Amino acid sequence: MSAPTTTGESTILIFGASGDLTARKLVPALFQLFRQGYVRTSPIIGVARRNKTDAQFRTELRATVLDAADQQTSKDWRRFEQLLHYVQIDLSDQTAYEGLVDSVAELESQHRTPQNSARVVYLATTPSLFDDAVSGLHHSGLIPPLEHKERLRVVVEKPFGHDLASAKELNHTLTRWLHEDQIYRIDHYLGKETVQNILLFRFGNSIFEPLLNRNHVDNIQITVAESIGMERGRGAFYDTAGAVRDVLQNHLLQLLCLVTMEPPALFEARQIRDEKMKILQALRPGSPASINHWVVRGQYSAGLIDGEPVPAYRREDRVSPTSNRETYVAMNVGIDNWRWEGVPFFLRTGKRLPERVTEIVVQFKQPPLNLFSTVECDGDLCDIVETQPNQLVLRIQPQESIFLRFSTKRPGMQYHVEPVVMDFDYEDHFSANLPGAYERLLLDVMRGDSTLFTRSDELLAAWKFVTPVLQAWEESLSSPELYSAGTWGPPAASRLVSEYGRAWREPRLDE
Ligand code: BG6
Repeated sequence: MSAPTTTGESTILIFGASGDLTARKLVPALFQLFRQGYVRTSPIIGVARRNKTDAQFRTELRATVLDAADQQTSKDWRRFEQLLHYVQIDLSDQTAYEGLVDSVAELESQHRTPQNSARVVYLATTPSLFDDAVSGLHHSGLIPPLEHKERLRVVVEKPFGHDLASAKELNHTLTRWLHEDQIYRIDHYLGKETVQNILLFRFGNSIFEPLLNRNHVDNIQITVAESIGMERGRGAFYDTAGAVRDVLQNHLLQLLCLVTMEPPALFEARQIRDEKMKILQALRPGSPASINHWVVRGQYSAGLIDGEPVPAYRREDRVSPTSNRETYVAMNVGIDNWRWEGVPFFLRTGKRLPERVTEIVVQFKQPPLNLFSTVECDGDLCDIVETQPNQLVLRIQPQESIFLRFSTKRPGMQYHVEPVVMDFDYEDHFSANLPGAYERLLLDVMRGDSTLFTRSDELLAAWKFVTPVLQAWEESLSSPELYSAGTWGPPAASRLVSEYGRAWREPRLDE
């Protein structure tokens, strides 16, 4: 996005390298960057408590990353794995960091890393270790003096706290020794190609932007739907989090910011984040006292996904059988600013919905006069057919696309209305594969570009918005409304929109 401040080659330290994230996301992304020539000489140092040699570390990663690789990929891996190293330390032991400093220096000299290149520390550990990790970096001298602050970047994964108070505490822990500019909070949604395209679509074209405001838009819907449940033991974490903390507070609110923010004066990190921040500040929740009027929470019961039976949430592995955790949330919120005043925003996310689909739907107002109303009959059944509101759909995943729905005249002797779709499909248009979110984000950290990372004030504003909802649920004695797995959420979610004379758009993947 903005101009890179470094060539990108950096020493990469992954704290908590024995975890799932390293093998599933980080190393595959670094391998792709290597294959594309972005990473050539950067040593990648896994740091964790278990005793392991470099060779063992490489073999383990190879087994996960290279699943049925072709010959060329295996050849590339053999060159790439020369960059992979392992250092065993207990991150909670402050005395161990001295040894880490020596190992890093030794490996940098082995790889001929230039003296002033940056170091990236990826905290792929539980947040309970962040304090020890950052203190260890400080006391061992791995945090450079302020005038060279760009030489260290620390990447943090969500969850960034559990509510407003804990998010503040976490920020405090990190900023005790680090400068805010050195902290890169990853929201992997911002690394998705189609999410980045939202800003280009809006501010790089002149025909849509003049319509995106209260004069023309009737409502905006954002859906982050998933058909998966609690696979791979995910229930243990999810049962402490739920849909608001896991997806709405971060991914969904970020999408809302991108689709509603004002154009920045310059396309650079600070200005883009400032504009997003203004949206978060203008978000208008309903009152915590009448929460059921504007928020719906649901939990899945047993049902069918792709025709296969799946268990209820409470029967999932590592989930409490009496859990009241929400696996679905829908909200009706407003944005108090000149552009959006009075426009309802309907947000929803959930697990075990019929499809995995993320999309933003901008629904425009009806034309002022309805000139084309005709009666159409199918046998004995007759219906009045009118023009449908125009919709602009930004499909983030799967089948990344943008489409515009409008009304046309069906050929014939009468004015029969037929909605049609004009679409742009990424895969059809660009033959290259879309880069993975982690590839893009890791490269940005290495280049020192923080545009796609969440700043602390954004994070706290998002927590400030959702925390009253979470508190109200905790205090209430009610349980989430059940919905069968494989359906679009509890009945109350339909009421949330129908009360305002609207309906959810049911995403159709064949569009
Ligand atoms: C993660 C959540 O942040 O995002 C998961 O913790 C969720 O629960 C995932 O499944 C969704 O990401 P994606 O890229 O698969 O849409």
